[in-house]
Amino acid sequence: MKPKVYITRKLPEGVVTKLSERFEVNMYEDENSVVPRDILLKEVKDVDGLICLLTDKIDQELLEQAKNLKIIANIAVGYNNIDVNAAAQKGIVVTNTPGVLTEATADLTFALLMATARRLPEASSYLRRGEWGTWSLMQMTGQEIYGSTIGIIGLGRIAEALVKRAKGFNMRVIYYNRTRKTDKEAELGIEYCELNSLLQQSDFVSILIPYSPEVHHLIGEKELLLMKKDAILINTARGGLVDEVALYEALAKGQIWGAGLDVFEEEPVPSDHPLLTLPNVVTLPHIGSSTVKTRMKMASLAVDNIVNVLEGKSPLTPVN
Ligand code: GLV
Repeated sequence: MKPKVYITRKLPEGVVTKLSERFEVNMYEDENSVVPRDILLKEVKDVDGLICLLTDKIDQELLEQAKNLKIIANIAVGYNNIDVNAAAQKGIVVTNTPGVLTEATADLTFALLMATARRLPEASSYLRRGEWGTWSLMQMTGQEIYGSTIGIIGLGRIAEALVKRAKGFNMRVIYYNRTRKTDKEAELGIEYCELNSLLQQSDFVSILIPYSPEVHHLIGEKELLLMKKDAILINTARGGLVDEVALYEALAKGQIWGAGLDVFEEEPVPSDHPLLTLPNVVTLPHIGSSTVKTRMKMASLAVDNIVNVLEGKSPLTPVN
């Protein structure tokens, strides 16, 4: 009897071959929709391995059903969709996809920063609407990027990669992290700041920490009030790190200048979400790691984790 693997979303052919050569593989046959909960609960009943996405809630209820499960391979670096403690108690390995998405996500973070600072989506739609009457001095003026100060919350892999991009733009880089990393400060040319001080000094604030309930709404009304009036908030981590109601108020009242958001508290973000009505917000549909190469590498890493664990070897990138 071959071990059984369930994949919660249709993955590209090439990626699945490595699994189907070894295991009995079942896959939800849609690329663009989340597997319905009842199907997922039924499918996991007798599987040994599960490949899932950040859209799939892997909780206690599901783990109770999955009596044979040995490994959950999330195709994402974040894994707040999975109850890792409950999995650990059952001896189930959980893996994520760190490393392979670092550069693509740092690129997107910087791209979003630039698009927000220089109002690219707004300027593009202005032209397409036929409103471009003439060149004028203060038309579509944005915020200066080169030589500005960026405050990065977190100093993990993606944050480090973002520092390199910021340095290319001659930015002063300050960071806040739960644990100060003095060795990195000299190596990267960055300065440590307490969170409040970072918020007060930064022209750009970029959030790059994993989500957990302890950091829910890390950026709320009080924090937004500390930011400069011409500052920009960039979130490419998880929506729950920012209080969206407070953010809307701060943007609408001009307490901060703009925001670039790739992630939301509820995803997909509802089309009537108040933040979508503001011209000073650039919104993206959670595409931080979305390049062809990176997404393929993420899927392959998840597959390799499954192969390793189900063949009795160590997982490549365990989180527990
Ligand atoms: C995407 O958000 C990821 O965690 O990989």
